[in-house]
Amino acid sequence: ATVEVENEPCLNYLKGSEERQKVEEALKEMRSKTEEIPCVIGGEEIFTGDVHYQVCPHNHQHKLAKFHYASADHIRLAIDRALAIRAGWEKRPMAERADIFLEAARLLSEKYRYKMLAATMLGQGKNIQQAEIDAAAELIDFWRWNAKHSLDLQKQQPISTEGVTNSIIYRGLEGFVAAVSPFNFTAIGGNLSGAPALMGNVVLWKPSDTAMLSSWIAYNIMREAGVPEGVINFVPADGPTFGDAITSSPHLAGINFTGSVQTFQHLWRQVGQNLGLYKTFPRLVGECGGKNYHFVHSSADLESVANGTIRSAFEYGGQKCSACSRMYVPSSMWPKLKDELLTRVKEVKMGDADDFTTFISAVIDDKSFGRIKNWLEHAKSSSNLKVIAGGNCDDSRGYFVEPTIIETSDPKEKIMQEEIFGPVLTVYPYPDEKYREVLEMVNETSPFGLTGAVFAKDVNVVKEAHEILKMSAGNFYINDKSTGSVVMQQPFGGARLSGTNDKAGGPHYVLKFCSPQAIKESH
Ligand code: SER
Repeated sequence: ATVEVENEPCLNYLKGSEERQKVEEALKEMRSKTEEIPCVIGGEEIFTGDVHYQVCPHNHQHKLAKFHYASADHIRLAIDRALAIRAGWEKRPMAERADIFLEAARLLSEKYRYKMLAATMLGQGKNIQQAEIDAAAELIDFWRWNAKHSLDLQKQQPISTEGVTNSIIYRGLEGFVAAVSPFNFTAIGGNLSGAPALMGNVVLWKPSDTAMLSSWIAYNIMREAGVPEGVINFVPADGPTFGDAITSSPHLAGINFTGSVQTFQHLWRQVGQNLGLYKTFPRLVGECGGKNYHFVHSSADLESVANGTIRSAFEYGGQKCSACSRMYVPSSMWPKLKDELLTRVKEVKMGDADDFTTFISAVIDDKSFGRIKNWLEHAKSSSNLKVIAGGNCDDSRGYFVEPTIIETSDPKEKIMQEEIFGPVLTVYPYPDEKYREVLEMVNETSPFGLTGAVFAKDVNVVKEAHEILKMSAGNFYINDKSTGSVVMQQPFGGARLSGTNDKAGGPHYVLKFCSPQAIKESH
């Protein structure tokens, strides 16, 4: 079996269009109520009474969803129930499981698109375009392309010889897979839980508290598409409770994680400590943070640098793991580029996510706001940092942080090496002729390795930059911004502290959730 798929086109939501009206209707409905969300364990919806809320980032008085945390006992129950149906699910032909996810993609594209957009806008603070590329296009693409790759994988077979037939079957992992997803992409939750399920695994999915409503919609789309009850269990929970419960089960077969490097390291350590307990070596797949750079050479096109940098640093408030947060600019170009950036950043419209003219909305929650605020204070009080745009924040109604540009004379300042995850860009102007040393320094000051971009028209410089920066980014851009990877066009992920680099949205991703068996049959 095989299937041909394409990337989902992004729709426009122009004023007066039918699409705009449908999103408006979905927004209106969501604004008027607080959705109550249970845990779903083996198909049973459980309202545990340990209640938490998801609020709207641009208006924290608005409670968008009320959800129930699973306790450690609920998580253990979910593991038992998942394991009880594992064999039956794994036995289903790959083509049947692939069809279910193609159907999920169709349902999202045709039936639930507007609802998903509204939940992602109100719940995660994305403007309409950012919601569309994530909660519609990217999630549809993940489900579709994974389904295609799951079928293509079956065709990767060994050779047979005279009197011997060899084959490989792609079994699911023996045990259960835990999926832990972040707030910043609705698509990631659907992929982290969906891909292992597609490959015949049973899954416990812990969605992010701050992406609860959109995760719940994605979950119900998968159920409606035909994922049997119990194959994916929806388990909102306190992070440490969830981590302890899954890593102390002998049946842990994999963790599919996107989130902070500290949490991933913690889970990895717990797995290490419990190794004697497990029936198999758990498969650990993780995508963590980044400290992504734009490196500009004097031969670069100034317009495209300015445009790409504003978009990469400030779209979705700098809360994409791929967002540019440090930039290196030749001194000769800096005065003009600075003017360009300052002009453009003034035009950036900050506002409510559900206002269709908003470019940047509030950051996700109070914790994020506090962390970014500390960075702004650090910038204001450090002698080698100068705030040249923005720098203010206000959480009286929503968690608003101005798009901020900082200039530094010290390329090794901690603001040039640590992840901020907010709309804060720091620029280091360097002496033009020193660009090679600066490239070396960029590489050395990259504990992360997620994305990076080089802007240069000089092809030799591009080549040199790529050689020096080769390991500093899993996704490397030439004359383009560091964000905006598209499923199957730029498979996404990085090494170093950014994770295991298993390339979500790439052809090999589904293999991570398989345990192949080679079969030799003699005749
Ligand atoms: N895939 C997204 C991007 O490239 C980030 O997670 O922007």
